[in-house]
Amino acid sequence: MSASAETAILKTSHLLGIEGLSIEEIVGLLDLADTYVALNRAAEKKSALLKGRTLINLFFEASTRTQSSFELAGKRLGADVLNMSVRTSSVTKGETLLDTAATLNAMRPDILVVRHYDSGAAELLARKLDCSVVNAGDGSHEHPTQALLDALTIRRRRGSFEGLIVAICGDVLHSRVARSNIHLLAKLGARVRLIAPKTLLPSDAERFGVEIFTDMRKGLAGVDIVMMLRLQLERMTGAFVPSTREYFRFYGLDREKLALAKPGALVMHPGPMNRGVEIDSTVADDIEVSLIQEQVEMGVAMRMAVLDALARGLARGGRNT
Ligand code: CP
Repeated sequence: MSASAETAILKTSHLLGIEGLSIEEIVGLLDLADTYVALNRAAEKKSALLKGRTLINLFFEASTRTQSSFELAGKRLGADVLNMSVRTSSVTKGETLLDTAATLNAMRPDILVVRHYDSGAAELLARKLDCSVVNAGDGSHEHPTQALLDALTIRRRRGSFEGLIVAICGDVLHSRVARSNIHLLAKLGARVRLIAPKTLLPSDAERFGVEIFTDMRKGLAGVDIVMMLRLQLERMTGAFVPSTREYFRFYGLDREKLALAKPGALVMHPGPMNRGVEIDSTVADDIEVSLIQEQVEMGVAMRMAVLDALARGLARGGRNT
């Protein structure tokens, strides 16, 4: 596939969030990612689509799935990939996010993938730099590629989103994954339920147009997909739950609670999981119901699709000068 020969999928040269994407852009990315699932399952996984292009991963927060899948995605598409190690960089000497990014930008990368603990960090860089910027998670704001890979996973299993009931359960308050998924699922026609204790729900959660439940057993009734979230302890400034044991009792997904969902309901989790806190191993490891490993596989395909879509913009206009 040649980037220059293909039509545009994304209207802008960055991917900063789901909120600003149109349904056409989302469906375009899902369709493109489907083609990369097949490539990733072949023995020969390489394409030369991004040959000569440079991708930099700049992660200020820990990551296993997102960073490694962007690295693999870039390499499988033929790009030169640099994983910037923030912990051994001049950030430790006080260099700011903007100065760090501007320094890397001067090395003329084409795409910068950034994860940062501040909401809005990716957008700030997109305004200041002349390369494409991908948000790999900014504070508790958005994690667009996670929602896109989740949607790819759901669409491949269920075919369509129309009328599907998806419950997003757990620490919604601190979750960028929840925010991106709420936007995306609503755009594609799914019904979204949020299930969480009051302390872990945003005070203005109703504005998302979702149904809200504080009783997990009631909230799971009739649900097609149960999406579990981790307690984001790193973003908590105090105690939001009495204890993890108590939390598991009321909000942890085990076989007994899953049985309240629609027969055949599927379970998702963006990872990393905390077993015995928000999910029981008997559910997480049951390949009949758990899509967790499939989500990881779809992550590489979706990130290839995102890089491909951004490369089409680069092929049209070069760097965003
Ligand atoms: N889901 C997710 O973002 O996982 P990582 O933190 O491992 O990248």
